[in-house]
Amino acid sequence: MIGKNEHFHGSDVEKVEAVYGVKKEDIINFSGNVNPLGISPMLREALAAHVDAIASYPDREYGSLRKAIAAYGKTEYENVIVGNGSTELISLFIRAVNPGKALVVAPTYSEYEREITLNGGVCHYYALQEAQEFELDVERFLKQLQAGPDLLILCNPNNPTSSLISRQDMETILTACRQRDIFVLVDETYMEFVENYEDITAIPLTAYYKNLVVLRGTSKFFAVPGLRLGYAVTGNQTLSKSIHRQQNPWSLHALAAAAGEAMFQDQEYIHATHRLISEERQRMYRLFSKDSRFHPYLPKANFMLLRICADGLSSEKLFTRAIQQKMMIRDCSDFLFLSKEYIRFCFLSPEKNDRLANCLLV
Ligand SMILES: Cc1ncc(COP(=O)(O)O)c(C=O)c1O
Repeated sequence: MIGKNEHFHGSDVEKVEAVYGVKKEDIINFSGNVNPLGISPMLREALAAHVDAIASYPDREYGSLRKAIAAYGKTEYENVIVGNGSTELISLFIRAVNPGKALVVAPTYSEYEREITLNGGVCHYYALQEAQEFELDVERFLKQLQAGPDLLILCNPNNPTSSLISRQDMETILTACRQRDIFVLVDETYMEFVENYEDITAIPLTAYYKNLVVLRGTSKFFAVPGLRLGYAVTGNQTLSKSIHRQQNPWSLHALAAAAGEAMFQDQEYIHATHRLISEERQRMYRLFSKDSRFHPYLPKANFMLLRICADGLSSEKLFTRAIQQKMMIRDCSDFLFLSKEYIRFCFLSPEKNDRLANCLLV
């Protein structure tokens, strides 16, 4: 049985409906970290136009889709691997690398640990420091690499802290890892929401670092969690082949393969998303910074982590208050290294963000 002390993930709207009696269609989801603009108009058209694609098997090589992704990500076609959401690619990558000992920078997305332990490995953590606003201190971090992991996982920008590792720091980390034979998985699920992200993404580094895989999804930025389209970029052809060998044929369905590429070309949608998120990110940060009951951490992605500083308030209380007004935020108390003092919410339309601010800042 699900109870009110349950932790709800961003996709758990059915559970929230069952526990709180708010119809799932009425829930404003500030927990899912999905682009509020909804799906790209070009994708909508392409999906309708390609519906007959499901009458055939998809191209086993997903050639056309991989070319579209390569153009979008400014990389080579051969370096792109596609999968059934980034979730499938996390799993395939971990199976291919088969780490005995992995190091994960946390608090972060919990799926990495699940996959590592399912695969028989052990997961160690490096804790981001609250005193440093959850920003990675690279020098201090590199000392941890002496402990000899064979895999390092970094989420950049990180979920739930919305903190970011610069290109320069990433190169320092990759160089240190290459010297020690450590593979690095960089999960860039939220990268395209970052200001000037093309100067920060690690995709160009895949040309120089063969110990690197960059993971991207489309669920969040392109608002298509139901399409299950993810991709990875690596310059390591041995690793690519190993992932291909393990992957089920046609694991990405024909409609996603045929229509998915349309969204990567929808420049108007992409720019509108950047504008909206950039404005709302600054506005919401400023708004919550002014209230002494909250400490917001400077957000770099499309969501913000906040510490609750007021006595008598907790993440559970705020979750309950918000859901009673049909808004779902993330109670972060189940994240490793966080507690009931932390909440996270993503940025939606200005009107919805105002509604959330009015609820939390009363
Ligand atoms: C950091 C991170 N990586 C990966 C995923 C999974 O995304 P996908 O829908 O592409 O499998 C999520 C989903 O919440 C996430 O937050």
